[in-house]
Amino acid sequence: MSPRGKDEVAAIVVAAGSGVRLGREVPKAAIEIAGVPMVARAVQAMMAGGADRVVVAAPEAWVDRFAAFMAGYGDRVKVIAGGVMRQDSVRLALAQVGGAGIVLVHDAARALVPPFVVDRVIEAVRDGGRAVIPVMPQVDSLRRIRRNVTVSVDRSTFLRVQTPQGFETEVLRKAHATSGDKEYTDDATMCEAIDVAVTTVPGDGLAFKITEPMDLVLAEVIARGES
Ligand code: CTP
Ligand code: MG
Repeated sequence: MSPRGKDEVAAIVVAAGSGVRLGREVPKAAIEIAGVPMVARAVQAMMAGGADRVVVAAPEAWVDRFAAFMAGYGDRVKVIAGGVMRQDSVRLALAQVGGAGIVLVHDAARALVPPFVVDRVIEAVRDGGRAVIPVMPQVDSLRRIRRNVTVSVDRSTFLRVQTPQGFETEVLRKAHATSGDKEYTDDATMCEAIDVAVTTVPGDGLAFKITEPMDLVLAEVIARGES
């Protein structure tokens, strides 16, 4: 029996974007990496990492097709139509997670996330983290643009933020209920806006976000090497 209520872990996979920067005909999450659609890889990683069930936010016209990709999971995976902004997709999916005490939010575009990262985030929430993010060090030198000149900054004071991000479900509900019209790129930032402390765990290079055509080439090479 999978757990119910407080101990239950629900994952939201946001997959409703169109993938403008990839420039393909089909929505980004439908694109196959070594024969498997990105959204299916993301859902599989959530399950393998400890999620009990998954709610997928899909592009409206693709709900049935995305559901067909996930048919093997039965009622552990639910596919709904997402919204205009990423945070709309999260909010719509959040309404479907029921009584699960822990919720993860993951980008379908981070299709190759290793399950151990998912597990690490869940454990950090179980250990008391109310909003948990996987992070990576910044490898490039950074410069801040100030009017017409650029000024170097200390890169060790910056972290790159990945998903899945993990939350006490009530915290994320409250953050979304009070977020208003402001656009947020991730859910931890929204929690921070209501004064919830955000805690970090180490992320992983394989959780990179497939954004531009070169990322897809890299993902394909990695996935073929593993199969
Ligand atoms: N996303 C979503 N609903 C939206 C916008 C984005 O569910 N209205 C999801 C995307 O499907 C993706 C994740 O949020 O898995 C991160 O977004 P991004 O990488 O920007 O994907 P797209 O918005 O699809 O890409 P682009 O910005 O290039 O169009
Ligand atoms: Mg986008």
